[in-house]
Amino acid sequence: WPSFVAALALGYLLGAIPFGVIFTRLAGAGDLRTIGSGNIGATNVLRTGRKGLAAATLIFDALKGTAAVLIAAHLWVDEQPLIAGLGAFVGHLWPIWLKFKGGKGVATYLGVLFGVAWPAALVFVAVWLAVAAITKYSSLAALIASIVTPSALIFFGYDDAVHLYMGLTILLLWTHRANIDRLRKGSEGKIGGTAAPAA
Ligand code: G3P
Repeated sequence: WPSFVAALALGYLLGAIPFGVIFTRLAGAGDLRTIGSGNIGATNVLRTGRKGLAAATLIFDALKGTAAVLIAAHLWVDEQPLIAGLGAFVGHLWPIWLKFKGGKGVATYLGVLFGVAWPAALVFVAVWLAVAAITKYSSLAALIASIVTPSALIFFGYDDAVHLYMGLTILLLWTHRANIDRLRKGSEGKIGGTAAPAA
């Protein structure tokens, strides 16, 4: 079991790096936690009007999840890559560096999925893009894509990862509870818009 704890810790430390906050601060665009929804992810970085920063946030928040899985897969052979992926997701949601107030986890969810089961990750991206194109809601796109993911894993034969992803999808629904509330009321901010109620 020490390798499982090590995999969890490795994933956590990578996942806890808040790239959105770091990039926004380095670019002199302020403290992301006081902008838009206050969330630390790429969707909210986009509300600063800096598309490049938002793209970098998306890519790095995803890659930290992919890296956790691939490093663990290099070091160990059993379930440790999945545990490292769980650690990365948990690290993004509850990062020690931000007093455990982290992000909603979409990019890291996707990055871990690329490491674990890339065909399912492509399905996630396709569903996300389709829903986002139609509705312009980043949150709704992520929620629907994540609800589809366990089925995509079963379809492509990644049975080992199904339970982990059912858990991660439930966590994602939970981190988006304020977004779900706003979607219901019709007050959710759309992609590219500047106004989003603080959550
Ligand atoms: O799922 C997208 C999520 O990141 C929403 O972010 O800032 O609109 O709460 P935000």
